[in-house]
Amino acid sequence: MPISRRTLLKGCSIAAAAYGTGLALPAARRAFADAPAELVAHEGSALLADGRPTDAVMTYGLGGAGDGVPPVLRMRKGEEFAARLVNRLQEPTTVHWHGLRIVNAMDGVPEMTQPYVYPGDGFDYRFTPPDAGTFWYHPHCNTLTQMGRGLTGVLVVEDPTDPVFDAEIVLNLRDFRLGGDGQFIAPFKPRDAARGGTFGTVRTTNWQKEPIYDAPAGGLVRVRIAATDVTRVYRLGLEGAGAMVVALDGDPLAAPFPLDLCDVGPGQRMDIVLRMPASEGMVATLSNVKGSAPWTVARFRAVGADAKRSLRDVGALPANPIPVADLKAAEIIPMEFTATAEHGARESICGSLGYTFWAINRVAWPGDTADGVAPLAELKLGKSYVFRVANRTPHAHPIHLHGMSFHIVASNQPRLLGHATDTILLQPDETADLALVADNPGAWMLHCHIIEHQKTGMSSYVTVT
Ligand code: C2O
Ligand code: CU
Repeated sequence: MPISRRTLLKGCSIAAAAYGTGLALPAARRAFADAPAELVAHEGSALLADGRPTDAVMTYGLGGAGDGVPPVLRMRKGEEFAARLVNRLQEPTTVHWHGLRIVNAMDGVPEMTQPYVYPGDGFDYRFTPPDAGTFWYHPHCNTLTQMGRGLTGVLVVEDPTDPVFDAEIVLNLRDFRLGGDGQFIAPFKPRDAARGGTFGTVRTTNWQKEPIYDAPAGGLVRVRIAATDVTRVYRLGLEGAGAMVVALDGDPLAAPFPLDLCDVGPGQRMDIVLRMPASEGMVATLSNVKGSAPWTVARFRAVGADAKRSLRDVGALPANPIPVADLKAAEIIPMEFTATAEHGARESICGSLGYTFWAINRVAWPGDTADGVAPLAELKLGKSYVFRVANRTPHAHPIHLHGMSFHIVASNQPRLLGHATDTILLQPDETADLALVADNPGAWMLHCHIIEHQKTGMSSYVTVT
């Protein structure tokens, strides 16, 4: 299928932050550390803007350490990962492993898959990720506050057969909503929550402003980008170097294509392989070009002698074992995303924004729990389905399904089709067909990843039995 510029725009969905130094060992050769014993959610202060440190920042530390950006968690495809969440916040929390197709009991949704983890308590997570790629982790409780204050980390699942690049850089893209004194302000405005969402005021990559990373001149660098912001849809473009898009939302593309401009919405990821400029000191710039004033997301500075690598050497990454739906046998399940009349929302242990603005199939999610809401669909284990998702609003919604990946097989708008994902950036007035095999038993959330939308009604679930 020929890929036009517009198709690319619609087809690429998310982007986010970068971590680490450009000269780190390639992922596939990195010594694999023992699984972290403790992932400690805690509060602290961090320097996020010019001037004084921001208080009441929330982050994760491994073994208690860590005051900055949450660590990049590294796991291996097909190998068990274990970590104990320790809650040193002053409110309940959980961890959701966004995009990992793991057992329901480890999915991190309070009440639905596990108990709330209260302050001072812990919870043991233990699972085996089936897919390699770039994923992320975040709480599933009071998320506008907890994620807004910092609890969004990138997660890398390595495949021992991954190609080795000259460097790897992880980018965690997100904003913070701070006032002029560098302190948190109200996390949202109701009138914005009823539209596209409330934007942060300080834009960061790995909690830094316009960071610069060194990487071998003329080398091939794998850049794993994750958009972990609660609101912002990025449109990413690169200047000063060429790059191939090799994976979207953790799923390797069968046919990588050159990066032109790519939209990456909240919750989405994009992996690119970038060919560094050949001469020492030259800089390539990754920018957000949405809106009238482009701004820098990250820069990559060439160091050393020309490694003389070529983008022509970049092939497809090893595929993930995601089942392919039988479209002829698939049952079609319509899902409509709409605005709804404003009314008060129910209080809940994981916080409420006090409003209801959105609904799925005319039902607004009431609080933490389903609380009388029937599942959107009761899926039979092993059967194929098509979710026919329709956006009846003038805003884009990044719609995320837990526990199972789906292939985007059709749309009434131009977009890249065929790849698997856990989050589709559904455009205004778009209708798309999401095909999947219901192969993972349990109750799985399906919600918008603009957190204000999720928390004001645009949330539901499906069951697989
Ligand atoms: Cu990334 Cu239900 O979440
Ligand atoms: Cu939304």
